[in-house]
Formats: sequence, C-alpha cells, structure tokens
Amino acid sequence: MTQDQLKQAVAQAALDMIQARLTKDTVLGIGTGSTANYFIDALAQYRFDFDGAVASSAATEARLKAAGIPVYDLNGVGTLPIYIDGADEANPHLHLIKGGGAALTREKIVAAASEEFICIADSSKQVDILGHFPLPIEVVPMARSYVARELVKLGADPVYREGVVTDNGNCILDAYHLDVLDPIAFEQRLNQIVGVVTNGLFAQRGADVLLIGHPDGVKTYY
Ligand code: 5RP
Repeated sequence: MTQDQLKQAVAQAALDMIQARLTKDTVLGIGTGSTANYFIDALAQYRFDFDGAVASSAATEARLKAAGIPVYDLNGVGTLPIYIDGADEANPHLHLIKGGGAALTREKIVAAASEEFICIADSSKQVDILGHFPLPIEVVPMARSYVARELVKLGADPVYREGVVTDNGNCILDAYHLDVLDPIAFEQRLNQIVGVVTNGLFAQRGADVLLIGHPDGVKTYY
C-alpha cells in the first residue's frame, strides 16, 4: 500500500469509529493536512447526520465548505465532543508532534476545546522518541531571531520556514535535531520563551485515541 492509501484507510477507520455517535447536534473538530483531508472527503456523505464542524485552519474551512459541511466559529459552540486530526510524529504515550502544515496553534486550541482527540496517521509517523521530525514553533515575527537564539541554548537547530505566514499572521521556526525525552516538560519549557505563540508538541494534551494505518490493517492505541 502507498502512504496515501494508508492515510485513506485510517481516515475511513476514524469515520467508522465515530459514525454511530453523530447526532443532528454534533459539531466536530476537524484538523489540517492530507490525512484530515481524506477524513473530510469520507465524512461528506454523512453531512446531513450531524450539525457541522470547527476547522483548525483556513484550508480545512475551505475544504469543509466545498464538501457542503457547515463551519462554525469555536467561540459559538462550546466544548466539542470529538476532534480528528493527523500528526507528524506519535510516540507510544500518544504524545505528538504537529504543525508540519503550519496550523499548530489553531489545532492546539481545537484539541484543548475537545473532549476526545482521535489522531489519525500512517505508520511512518510512529516513533519511540519524538524529534526526528523538526519541531514546528509558531513565533511572533519580531521575536524570530530572539526565539531562535533561545532554541539554540536548548540544544535545537532552528530553521526559519521561508515564505510561510500562519493563519494568525506569524512565522514558523522548525527546530531540528531534538531528542524529546520528556515531551510534557519540554512543551512547557518552550512555552516560557517570550515570543513563542505555540509549539508543536502535543503532550500536555496529547491524543486520547491513536489510529495508525499499517499495511496489514488499522491499529488502535489508547
Ligand atoms: C498540520 C498538521 C498535520 O496534522 C500534520 O502535518 C500531518 O499532515 P499529513 O496528514 O498531511 O501527513 O499538524 O499542521
């Protein structure tokens, strides 16, 4: 199977998992990226079985609307029952690295506002230790160089993601060459750097369920 076929299979598995829970009042949180896009494509046929969705990015909002799914502002809907999103890396504790698509801040907000986070990914995303994938960090533009220097002090090798402006008008530093041995502590440490808006470690609030698409089927981790 190709990586895209694994993403498609895991997106379908997530839909199978939540379908019986959809009601006319359900508002889902929907993430960003190619795996989330496969989920939206599969969800479209059930659009009359639930109310709508909160999107974690402008790109996801556009895709949801194109699929005929109403999109709501998070401020108007309260706690969401389910958030479904992909990841760049996932460890056995269901801690994640996210933000490869630069949507980490809104993703972290929607995850925080959701009762259950179902993470969907292909098997290439499973790791023992987070950090092989460069850790995305959203930064206020004027603080870019200062934050980069602070990241170097923490052992990272930050690279400015050229030409990328987030949905919130900020820039992204990708922190290379990290072995994140204590993801919760490192997430908190990065949050203390002035000028950091969000870091891509989802450990304090990791996934509740991890669905991984393997060539021999989708596996579920709690
Ligand atoms: C976007 C993300 C995505 O979930 C992550 O990059 C995975 O993307 P894909 O499903 O395309 O592999 O965090 O900011």
